[in-house]
Amino acid sequence: MSDKHDAIDDLLLERRKFPPTESFKKDAHVVGTHLYDEANTDYEAFWARQAAELVEWTEPWHTVCEWELPFAKWFIGGKLNVSWNCLDRHVLAGRGDKVALHFEGEPGDTRTVTYAALLDEVQRFANVLKGLGVGRGDRVNIYLPMIPEAAVAMLACARIGAAHSVVFGGFSSQALADRINDAEAKVLVTADGGWRRGEVFPLKPQADEALRDTPSITAVVVVRRGGIEVPMTRGRDHWWHDLMAGADPVCPAEPMDAEQLLFLLYTSGTTGKPKGIMHTTGGYLTHVTYTHKYVFDIHPETDVYWCTADVGWVTGHSYIVYGPLSNGATQVMYEGVPNHPGNDRMWQIVEKYGVTIFYTAPTAIRTYMKWGIEEPAKHDLSSLRLLGSVGEPINPEAWMWYHEHIGGGRCPIVDTWWQTETGGIMISPLPGATTTKPGSATFPLPGVGAEVLDDEGRIVTKGGGYLTLTHPWPGMLRGIWGDPQRYTDTYWSRFAGRYFAGDGAKLDDEGYLWLLGRVDDVMNVSGHRISTTEVESALVSHPSVAEAAVVGANDATTGQAIIAYVTLVGGASADEQDLRNHVAREIGAIAKPKTIYFTPDLPKTRSGKIMRRLLRDVAEGRNLGDTTTLADASVVNELQKRAAEAPTED
Ligand code: PRX
Repeated sequence: MSDKHDAIDDLLLERRKFPPTESFKKDAHVVGTHLYDEANTDYEAFWARQAAELVEWTEPWHTVCEWELPFAKWFIGGKLNVSWNCLDRHVLAGRGDKVALHFEGEPGDTRTVTYAALLDEVQRFANVLKGLGVGRGDRVNIYLPMIPEAAVAMLACARIGAAHSVVFGGFSSQALADRINDAEAKVLVTADGGWRRGEVFPLKPQADEALRDTPSITAVVVVRRGGIEVPMTRGRDHWWHDLMAGADPVCPAEPMDAEQLLFLLYTSGTTGKPKGIMHTTGGYLTHVTYTHKYVFDIHPETDVYWCTADVGWVTGHSYIVYGPLSNGATQVMYEGVPNHPGNDRMWQIVEKYGVTIFYTAPTAIRTYMKWGIEEPAKHDLSSLRLLGSVGEPINPEAWMWYHEHIGGGRCPIVDTWWQTETGGIMISPLPGATTTKPGSATFPLPGVGAEVLDDEGRIVTKGGGYLTLTHPWPGMLRGIWGDPQRYTDTYWSRFAGRYFAGDGAKLDDEGYLWLLGRVDDVMNVSGHRISTTEVESALVSHPSVAEAAVVGANDATTGQAIIAYVTLVGGASADEQDLRNHVAREIGAIAKPKTIYFTPDLPKTRSGKIMRRLLRDVAEGRNLGDTTTLADASVVNELQKRAAEAPTED
């Protein structure tokens, strides 16, 4: 590549290194390279061994992997039940009294849910769903706060072979309606509301709004959590507690095909319509059980694990519900925000439950940094032995802060790269085996093949390029719901025979992988992927707006912040706050632009394409390079002037 430009610049040099300590290695599941060696010899055989050892099957598979590019099937012929693997097998082994969930509500209420209790609730709720006409192959939508009922509802679906589609509670009614309609869900499980920052945020009213235009929904189950008054539609809406009180407590787990659809999870793409990512049963469970066990070095007898994600995101699916429960772990589930009632809430919870493994996102770490080291210092964090990071690249300085002030300098950090589409962790250290470098996700896990390519598809051995995955893996998405062509186009067409993740990455001179962020227009705000197109469409749906362009600009706290450039309909006027609220209503508060600039025109190429890269430069205050492809260069000068003058909104 010496005569070429790197596909992505390789600018940062980080030399600090952290080998695993002797004390961590003493009890670690993996300390040497044997898993890598085994997987390198035959990755299919390696995954088959994990499937046989970590998961229980009612019928064995006859074919490990069928790979008809780009469609994979794993463990064909095998039968199993995910909820049985997450619950019954632990109870049958005498671990029914073990705590599955230490639930901590935001107001300070708590619930201790054992494996036996969770199994009981899941069986009842599975019967509730059956009573509402849900059967194998149906879809159930879940729109809940972070409460145990979310896990119960998901596992109950898995028990009877219905696929769940969880929609993050922060999404708006329109986003919920779109997802319900795309999945053609039969039942919606929601709550009156949940606790957030000391107040109840209403969910049922949002759901009602969505349900005006969702013909597939025949019943709604409502958990009472916030205690607020909500309207109930007779014949359609039912209280969770009423149905559960009358439910049969026995619902045997039905064996499912390994390739039975387990869930859909919607994720944003570059074009407006969100993609329903499909995950199936046997391969997914194998992948998340394996990665949860080895990446987090989980010792279920002694560890107290806490992943701070929401169940509405894939991290909540794989590393709150399925991975930890399949491994029989004890975990903390927290409902609320990290700064209620004080900025030390997370550290208070770590101390209270003796958390040993803590898994969070860089955006959260940067927020804790902003709040100061006094906050964690108020609490005894000596129970922690391992820290994890996920969702976006972690800056070396945030890594160091996490290491020193949360990990007390003794805890390894696993920076885990993966996606909704990959189902489980793909690139990460193994904490007893890998020497880490702050900011690097290090190496592909045993069983995973990853390579960096340049623009022409040649392998990069040092420097920046595009991250690709070279062969199928059990947890991989099986497609996009209702759109196989989009699946092929999005992930498998950029580089022949390879999965293109859409991320930039670089390799350093020791072969360590460093993730460089998204190469397309999808923004990553606080670890959430938000498509520019969706925000633009939301803005344009406001009667005063003619056109909008949205970019993600670097932001010290949220990774990227949404900056919008808006052109108004002639003669119309609009107020920035009004537009921000409009976006929140249309697609959710998470997508609110931080700043909106009003402009009479947008920079476009001669063929009419908006030049987002240029707008990003403007938003980040950089000098503009070549603007000769612009239709009207004066537009950017004007925008630059405004950017320099404008105050920013929080
Ligand atoms: O850009 C990468 C970033 O998050 C994207 C996946 O987002 P999502 O499907 O919402 O899943 C988030 C939780 C797995 C990736 O394409 N990303 C995720 N983890 C990392 C990361 N970027 C850098 N380092 C990571 N550890």
